Amino acid sequence: MCGIVGYIGHRDAYPIIIKGLQRLEYRGYDSAGVAIYDGKGINLAKTKGKVEDLKKKSKETISVEGNLGIGHTRWATHGVPNDVNSHPHYSNSGDLVIIHNGIIENYESIKKELIKRGYTFHSDTDTEVLVNLIEEVQKTENVKLGKAVQIALNQVVGAYAIAVFDKKKPDELVVAKLGSPLAIGVGENEFFIASDASPFIEFTNNAIYLEDEEMAIVRLGKEIKLRKIKDDSVAYPNILELQMNIEEIEKGGYDHFMLKEIYEQPRAIKDTYRGRLRADLGVIKMAGIDDHLDKFLNANRIIIVACGTSWHAGLVAEYIFEDLARIPVEVEYASEFRYRNPVIHKDDVIIAISQSGETADTLAAIKLAKENGAFVFGVCNVVGSSISRETHAGAYTHAGPEIGVASTKAFTTQITVLTLIALKLAKEKGKINDSEFAEYLEELESVPGKVEKALESNPLIEIISEVYKDSTNCLYLGRGYNFPVALEGALKLKEISYIHAEGYPAAEMKHGPIALIDEQMPVFVIATKKGHYEKVVSNIQEIKSRKGKIIAIVTEGDVQVKELADHVIEVPETFESLTPLLTTIPLQLLSYHIAVMRECNVDQPRNLAKSVTVE
Ligand code: G6P
Repeated sequence: MCGIVGYIGHRDAYPIIIKGLQRLEYRGYDSAGVAIYDGKGINLAKTKGKVEDLKKKSKETISVEGNLGIGHTRWATHGVPNDVNSHPHYSNSGDLVIIHNGIIENYESIKKELIKRGYTFHSDTDTEVLVNLIEEVQKTENVKLGKAVQIALNQVVGAYAIAVFDKKKPDELVVAKLGSPLAIGVGENEFFIASDASPFIEFTNNAIYLEDEEMAIVRLGKEIKLRKIKDDSVAYPNILELQMNIEEIEKGGYDHFMLKEIYEQPRAIKDTYRGRLRADLGVIKMAGIDDHLDKFLNANRIIIVACGTSWHAGLVAEYIFEDLARIPVEVEYASEFRYRNPVIHKDDVIIAISQSGETADTLAAIKLAKENGAFVFGVCNVVGSSISRETHAGAYTHAGPEIGVASTKAFTTQITVLTLIALKLAKEKGKINDSEFAEYLEELESVPGKVEKALESNPLIEIISEVYKDSTNCLYLGRGYNFPVALEGALKLKEISYIHAEGYPAAEMKHGPIALIDEQMPVFVIATKKGHYEKVVSNIQEIKSRKGKIIAIVTEGDVQVKELADHVIEVPETFESLTPLLTTIPLQLLSYHIAVMRECNVDQPRNLAKSVTVE
């Protein structure tokens, strides 16, 4: 994981790097560092802690003036988070300095070899090994930095996005990528390097996303040169014009990104179906599906691979694909799928779901499926991400940048895209008739308004959060379409407030979790009108008779559950398959408020990162 930023040009590099690192803190935030070339030498500061700590330390300890620099925010893989292990890392001579996102798997053997040749190491990191390997190649082969980087990278196994410069040649930055993302912002005789475009979006809309196994020499006054790392052949830069704007990556008056993103959901869901859903014409148009319709219609089965919240969206999709389109679906954790020698047929369709489009396990699962001849379809949020490029076809969610580590709008927009696909396939396969299809489209169009309505419960949810904020355990129950929502609700609570929470199918409670229920145990139950309502009501009774505290998410106007539950939160009525888009809203708000009340860092929970680019 980790975030990297670099700058070379005519502006002061330091403020660009610091601000850029703050925007990339979602990628890791256990330590941070910066190195600036001031016209004579390199000034480097690094520290355990956040970019804010780095800001203090660098202002106190180094000169921060200069037009060339690199910076890093870390999520530790090799070596505990401390000052020494933070990036950037110097080479032994002190001439080279590097930042790295990824893992060099064979670093130990390279390190041993370098030690034999007289190199010394100060940190426990794989990155310090890499920068010294580059230096060793530079010396022994007598080549320039770009060539040395290329030769060195051919000796390493692993994943990387790196930026490195040499103080003897301060007019160039060398960058390379394999497995971790790297974008180059192209300005007027100035260049920005970053893990995503957010650090440079206010300076330029033109960006090059390096492909895997590509490197670039970014030199002032020159065109960017792209090369293939393997054979040094020339690669041609594809300069994209980005649509992102600065407002999208700022908090816009909200206390936290998570809250802003929760409130963005009505807009985000609309953006997801905009231009695709035409209720007036009775059609769903999705280029990624239309161009490969036969693959979907003739699919033996659909296998969904994903991690985390995206996996939960996959579970919702399983219900809707099987229910509406009658296509068998399996949902797999990408990390298990890739290593368990799965049976994959060439008439299987794989759907990979990923907000970031960079999750290492999901990427590896895609590669495995492709090797086995399956057709792979991506559902990603980040445009131009690795997964969107690795898949045969796909559909973007168009949720806009999601910065809070706890995923919110990514989840509901993933469900929206997957619902569109399921509906389209159901129609094509003749599993629903025209009028059912039209009703569905109309209902889907009403969802953003209903999400707005669900958000109106925020003050009530804040009051309920106050009651349960000191709980040590919580249970989340749901059935059918709302079983994955229970899992997602529990995940949201544990990741940002550090309260232990479990999601269960309501009926499974009798097979274990019921033993935990006493008057201390809050149980969040999704009990909307459709979807086994009576059965869920029985489950609620079972909890009540064991004195558990019941907080129920119910359909507007419900009376039965209201009599049993300690608290009820209403959501508008909708089709059963669309209820996850509404029932998830109060659970997101609840975990948000509880985390704030417990003084947890909502947007950057401990030990987590937004984009998991290591396996
Ligand atoms: C991390 C994030 C989660 C996310 C998961 C999968 O764990 O903290 O919010 O759901 O990765 O990420 P992806 O980008 O593939 O959806």
